[in-house]
Amino acid sequence: MLNCFTTQKSTHSIPISFVKQKDFPAWLKKQTLTFQNWLSCNGHKNEPGFVSLIPGENHKLAQVVVSLSDLNAFWNPGALPLTLPEATYHFSEDEKDPETKAIIWGLGAYQFSQYKKPLRQAAKLFLPKSYDHNHIINTVESIYMVRDLINVPTDDLGPSEFAKFAKDFAKEFKMDFKQIVGKDLLKQNFPLIYAVGRASDDEPRLIDLRWNKSSKKKKKLTLIGKGICFDTGGLDLKNSSAMLLMKKDMGGAAHVLGLARMIMSANLPIELRVLIPLAENAVSGNAYRPGDVIKSHKGLTVEIGNTDAEGRLVLADALAYAATENPDLMIDIATLTGAARIALGTDLPALFSNHDAFAETLIKEAQQQNDPIWRLPLFSAYKESLNSVIADINNAGADSYGGAITAALFLKEFVPDQIPWMHFDLMAWNLKPRPGRPAGGEAMALRALFSWLEKEII
Ligand code: BES
Ligand code: ZN
Ligand code: ZN
Repeated sequence: MLNCFTTQKSTHSIPISFVKQKDFPAWLKKQTLTFQNWLSCNGHKNEPGFVSLIPGENHKLAQVVVSLSDLNAFWNPGALPLTLPEATYHFSEDEKDPETKAIIWGLGAYQFSQYKKPLRQAAKLFLPKSYDHNHIINTVESIYMVRDLINVPTDDLGPSEFAKFAKDFAKEFKMDFKQIVGKDLLKQNFPLIYAVGRASDDEPRLIDLRWNKSSKKKKKLTLIGKGICFDTGGLDLKNSSAMLLMKKDMGGAAHVLGLARMIMSANLPIELRVLIPLAENAVSGNAYRPGDVIKSHKGLTVEIGNTDAEGRLVLADALAYAATENPDLMIDIATLTGAARIALGTDLPALFSNHDAFAETLIKEAQQQNDPIWRLPLFSAYKESLNSVIADINNAGADSYGGAITAALFLKEFVPDQIPWMHFDLMAWNLKPRPGRPAGGEAMALRALFSWLEKEII
């Protein structure tokens, strides 16, 4: 059990009341005079996120009041586990949607403590039997796993260590595990993955995980995650500020493992495959170069216009490979372009899809889950900026405009039109801490994707 939750009912447990701004005056009238006086003496403000601690007769903490706005109230409970005194708390019985608030509590209790002692223990939330424990725990644990993987520095999580993690993960969830490593990538026709990763001492590889492979009746879902364990930019080297966060360039790979974990823990009736191309985009004497032409897994020749556009290269081989099995849906997740962040900012993952109906229902579900996603177009007129004089396609657009779109259009060349496909270009990182969303690695669009899959694909 995560240490921010308990299933032990305690008589000392302290109730938490969330009160919406507009309901506050009416709610206050219903409280005892002592209670009202305490709130006013301590200057409780009916402002979003304002927390007051109310003592009982024995001067011990007896109640917590949290003011919420109507808008944006979703993340407020995430501030509590690391600010309330260390004790056990529970939500009042008439609390609306307590399970979601419990998930947010869990997400707010996260501390990355692999290299530094946590500042304090999280306050504990009591989970009564009536809550869906599996859903709460699976969601929180899966998002912790994604955050941890992103937060671990590359020195401790290069391609080989990530592969080891994936192997242990596969064992835990009874998945079939396969990997193609180093020069074998060339023998088995993954030239782009090999080219991107060949300059690193830690060999590139392709991880292939399968779960639930049996019944023909099940829908087949293939997830593909960008696993660039570090992105220096290659010979088109990034500058220091652009390189600083690039341990997170395997965020897509972490996301697909996180989503797989949610799917398997909930035992969704899906035949699942997870493909993760892992590589470090490094600099050395044998690094791939601008101007090189590489024949891809699919057979298309790719001219390297920029060695920093490496994510689309490793994904191209993985997407083409995934497509040979004709799955019912392919989803790739990647920290693919800076341009997507310029267009939508840090918190809004970009979605590109060749399947309008799926994209529309997913975006609705994302809104409902407060896990927003924004669709950008696969605007085919921009494809010409990927033209190459000497090869079938160039990996970098002729100019930097619409860079998230041209990257998505590049990927689209490796996905057959008839296979429903979704491509996510996301940040996987919080630049600043906010309630429920600590600074550092972050899972984005995962809750939305999971609940959409639960409803749509079954
Ligand atoms: N990993 C980066 C994209 C990135 C940068 C994601 C910053 C999140 C934050 C990717 O490999 C990259 O460098 N893309 C280039 C592509 C360009 C050279 C065509 C970019 O976006 O500038
Ligand atoms: Zn790059
Ligand atoms: Zn990259």
